[in-house]
Amino acid sequence: MTVTDPQTLIPCPYKDTCSGCQLLDHPYGKQVQSKTSELRGLLQSHELQIPEKIEFLSAGAGYLRDRLDFSLQDGRLGLYGKNAREIVDIEICAQLSPELQTWYTEFRKIKWPFTKGSIRLRVGPEGQRGVWLDFANVDIKALLDEQSILKNLQEHAFVEIGQRRKIPVWNGHEFKLKDPELNVWFTTWMGELAVKLYCHVASFTQPSLKANKLIADKISSWVNQFPQARIIEFGSGIGNLTLPALTAAKSVLACEIDALSLEGLEKTVLMLPSELKPHSQKLTIYRGDFQKKILQDFSQFDGVLANPPRSGLMGFLNPLEELSYDQRPPFFIYMSCFPESMAKDMQRLQSYGYEIKELVILDQFPQTNHYEVLGLLQRK
Ligand SMILES: C[S@@+](CC[C@H](N)C(=O)[O-])C[C@H]1O[C@@H](n2cnc3c(N)ncnc32)[C@H](O)[C@@H]1O
Repeated sequence: MTVTDPQTLIPCPYKDTCSGCQLLDHPYGKQVQSKTSELRGLLQSHELQIPEKIEFLSAGAGYLRDRLDFSLQDGRLGLYGKNAREIVDIEICAQLSPELQTWYTEFRKIKWPFTKGSIRLRVGPEGQRGVWLDFANVDIKALLDEQSILKNLQEHAFVEIGQRRKIPVWNGHEFKLKDPELNVWFTTWMGELAVKLYCHVASFTQPSLKANKLIADKISSWVNQFPQARIIEFGSGIGNLTLPALTAAKSVLACEIDALSLEGLEKTVLMLPSELKPHSQKLTIYRGDFQKKILQDFSQFDGVLANPPRSGLMGFLNPLEELSYDQRPPFFIYMSCFPESMAKDMQRLQSYGYEIKELVILDQFPQTNHYEVLGLLQRK
């Protein structure tokens, strides 16, 4: 873990105009305190019993992100402004890792032939550069016809286009769009071994490679407290938490709605190095909308690992209601970047006999109001 001087202030020339960061005026130590007391207050307002100590993990006070979504508007590239729905043209950003900043600086040299669009830039674990251009269909066509921008971009980066994440391919005469391709854009950890995660530039990943090591370590340390557990996971995505959990677990049932993420997870498992390969036998993948309904018998599991979207777990918790106290899985690990829905779900879990044993803030969005929360709950 990085220890940051509590007096640290991150300089940013756009602090009064850009809406991306809200806390640049606060020294980092003050951010730590305010996030901790905000979480405490939120959980207490839901009548949750919480541990005395909330652990605070930080990978640094800024410059963490290895992916970020920017908007293009009338020749300006950046983030939305504080007071208007206008894009602030940003040259440097306190959120970006040094590798992503370098890529962004180069990317900004492009002169776009249209006025509007969304752009994600990413750097992978080996410094690979990726870009996802999410433009209107008519603008995608203009870009394919224009040719030189794409040719130039593809010399420096892997390019994905549109909601279907298609890849532009030059056939000697023109660009054609071909099916999405899985590449290594992120890393998770199985014990001390780094694992390459296959996905798309457009896939959901946690924002920072550096902060993700802290997440994987925390998940591993909790799952290790329950060796040989049979785990059911909500929101596995590309397997970022699945694989750390798999190391100590007897089995993991990874439940996820997004087919493209699961294709990534399947490829990751296929490509595991030989020393980790045996763990793949313990993984089962299950696709569906599990906020609506989950048919699994939760009494067959020793633990739940949940990392839901902002809306929380919803119907995924229903099967717990039908079980007697003793039949409920003994532990529940909950990770969320949206503490409001997490607090509601935890309130439900408390009513089912769970108590929060450990609570961690993982500050992967320093300088902003956002933070990740990890909680370990156990049946009383
Ligand atoms: C915050 S992401 C976590 C992904 C992964 N754990 C990680 O660390 O990268 C939430 C995940 O929940 C999935 N999800 C959203 N709604 C869902 C639903 N109704 N049923 C199952 N999974 C869902 C998303 O597709 C996404 O992969």
